Amino acid sequence: MELLKGKVALVTGAARGIGRKIAEAYAVEGADVAFTDLTRDENMASLEKELTALGVKCKGYASDASDFAAAQEAADAIASDFGKIDILVNNAGITRDTLLMRMEEEMWDLVIKVNLKSVFNFTKAVQKYMLKARTGSIINMSSVVGVNGNAGQSNYAASKAGIIGFTKSVAKELGSRNIRCNAVAPGFIVTDMTGKLSEDVKEQWVKTIPLRRGGVPEDVANVCVFLASELSSYVTGQTISVCGGMT
Ligand code: NAI
Repeated sequence: MELLKGKVALVTGAARGIGRKIAEAYAVEGADVAFTDLTRDENMASLEKELTALGVKCKGYASDASDFAAAQEAADAIASDFGKIDILVNNAGITRDTLLMRMEEEMWDLVIKVNLKSVFNFTKAVQKYMLKARTGSIINMSSVVGVNGNAGQSNYAASKAGIIGFTKSVAKELGSRNIRCNAVAPGFIVTDMTGKLSEDVKEQWVKTIPLRRGGVPEDVANVCVFLASELSSYVTGQTISVCGGMT
C-alpha cells in the first residue's frame, strides 16, 4: 500500500524482536529505515541487506540508546545520511525481573536508564529535525505492565509507566507543531525477551489472555505502521494496547 512512501523512520533496538519487525513493516510500506542497536553484528548486517533488497534505503548504527551523547550523535548522523527524520520509534528495552525484596540498586538503575532515559534521549535528539519539518510521529514502546503493574517487575513497570507520562506530555508540547507522540503497550509477545520465561509461566500468561495466544512481533508492528502513517493523523497522546484483550 506504500503508506509510508517518502518517509524516513528511525527505530531503536531493531536488530531483533519487535523492533526488527517494525523496521521490516515500515520498509514494506515504502519508508527508508535507519535503525540502532548496541553492536554492529550479524543481525544488524542481515536487516540492512533484507530491507535494502525491498528497494528502500536502510542503514544500521551501533549506538547505546541510554547514553545521552551517543543518542544525539546517532540522530545527527542519521539526519545527515537520510536528509530528515519523520518517524521515531523508541523501541529499545530490557528486563531485570525480580521481587522488590531481592532487587539490587543496579537492577533498578539499569532498567530505568535503558527503558526510560533512552526515550528522552532520542526524542530530544530528533525533536529539532521534526520541528524544522513541522511534521513527525513519535512512537514509544511501553507495556501492559506499565499500565497494570506486575509482581516481580517493579523496575520495568515503573520505566514503562514513566514512558506513558512522557508520551502524554510531549504530545501536549509538540501538538501545535504537527508532531504526534503515542505509546504502544504490548502484552505478552513471543520474542527473545519473553523466551527466557519458563513454559509454566508462559502457559499461565496465555490463560489470562482473552484471545488465548501470545502475540507475535507483527501484531505490534502493524499498530506501529498505523501510528506512523497518515491513517492516525488525529491520534496523539494515546496509549494503544496490543495485548489480545488482557487490559
Ligand atoms: P528483545 O530483547 O528481543 O529486543 C530488544 C532489542 O533492543 C535487542 O536487539 C537489544 O540488543 C536492543 N537493546 C537493548 N538495550 C539497548 C540499548 N541500550 N541501546 C540500543 N539497543 C538496545 O526485546 P523485544 O521483546 O523485541 O522488546 C522490544 C520492546 O518491546 C522493549 O522496549 C520491550 O520492553 C517492549 N515490550 C516487549 C514485550 C514482549 O512481550 N516481548 C511486551 C511489552 C513490551
